[in-house]
Amino acid sequence: MQRRDFLSLIPAGLIAARSARAEDAEIRVFLNEPTGVISPLIHGHFIEHLGGVIYDGVWVGEDSKIPNIGGVRKALIDAMREIGPTVVRWPGGCFADSYDWRDGIGPRSSRPRRNNFWANSEPLRKLPDSSPAKNDPNWFGTNEFLRFAKLINAEPYLAANVRGGTPRDLDEWVEYCNAPKGASTPAGRRAANGDPEPFNVRYWGVGNESWGCGGDMTSEEYSVEFRKFTSWVPRYGPPLSFVASGPNGGDYKWSQGFFSRVTEKDPRLMNRIWGWALHYYCGTTGKGDSLDFTSENAYDLFERANRMEDLIQKHWAIMGQFDREHRVKLVVDEWGAWHKDFNILAPQHLFGAVPSMRDAVIAGITLDTFHRHADKVAMAAVAQLVNCIQMLFLADGDRFCVTPTYQVFAMYKDHNNGQSLRSAFEAPTVSFAVDGKPH
Ligand code: AHR
Repeated sequence: MQRRDFLSLIPAGLIAARSARAEDAEIRVFLNEPTGVISPLIHGHFIEHLGGVIYDGVWVGEDSKIPNIGGVRKALIDAMREIGPTVVRWPGGCFADSYDWRDGIGPRSSRPRRNNFWANSEPLRKLPDSSPAKNDPNWFGTNEFLRFAKLINAEPYLAANVRGGTPRDLDEWVEYCNAPKGASTPAGRRAANGDPEPFNVRYWGVGNESWGCGGDMTSEEYSVEFRKFTSWVPRYGPPLSFVASGPNGGDYKWSQGFFSRVTEKDPRLMNRIWGWALHYYCGTTGKGDSLDFTSENAYDLFERANRMEDLIQKHWAIMGQFDREHRVKLVVDEWGAWHKDFNILAPQHLFGAVPSMRDAVIAGITLDTFHRHADKVAMAAVAQLVNCIQMLFLADGDRFCVTPTYQVFAMYKDHNNGQSLRSAFEAPTVSFAVDGKPH
């Protein structure tokens, strides 16, 4: 190997080039240069009312023959307990900006059935109208989700509807979840629905992808909505940590536009923002098949996953122009490899695929990146937990298994609350071709 490049940004998983020899690689760890404590919230998850994620990935129902705890698949709870504690985000995704939380409370038999945000997707269109993926029965609502979060030892993270909802809807949702026992009519409704004690939900997303499915807004328009939605929200026990809807990958204009406008009325409004949500899917390569790929396709995808490094650094630098002390942190609440649909278990598994070890490497690269930036990334959520995109589980009826991505989360669990240290890697460059051209 003639040339040795200093690749301080490349995670260990990438340096095993086909032609590289182990003695060519060097890792240096700077023991006196801590970067931050790795929050357990970085190893977070996401469940959306999309395809087969909730029904029956998570929710099988109390009367199901499938072992369950209060209607939630027991095998999933058991496996999640092994890799927690962490955070779980719900109800979307794009679905969140079409959701009325009031539909999902009260006796299940009288909850409305509503057309699901994703019902018109090609694979779901062919399903009967009775499919819960198409017309959502709302059996899994706020109480069910918050109990699920508790069962798996995860902080709940709720996403509010900004496109179709109002600040009042958010206020009342907060009141329903957090008002002290017996304090008000919403607290009484919560008790009547089985949960007298407040849930004390701390993390609240203000919309989702407001640049797209969450309202097709400009960053300036969204900054106005963010101010309205977070103004005078009722506060009870825990502090409320609001996560603003951040950029799509490398859309730096969105970060610049939002931060410059959100504080134009008063710079102190920066204190309203706890997290800035970044979404980045590294997608797929080659033919898009999750299983049929060449090693060039694999390297191509690893390189795309590795772009998270740049995204974090660049958005962070923009945030620093408006928030010099860097009080606001990054929340990467959707990430993962996204291959062509291949619904091997059930037709309702929209955005499903068969996971492989390649996806596990993507998970490792991404979590390594977050660990390196433990001072910047306060929370993250892989998309999604089950039967969807970079899933940790496949489930349908009584069939259930963990995926290679789950194994990565199990291995990385021990980094939770660990001290991240600056490190540098020296290794031969990996070269590969994309469409026959050297990359
Ligand atoms: O995770 C699937 C979808 O991808 C989410 O609903 C949306 O936020 C993103 O575009």
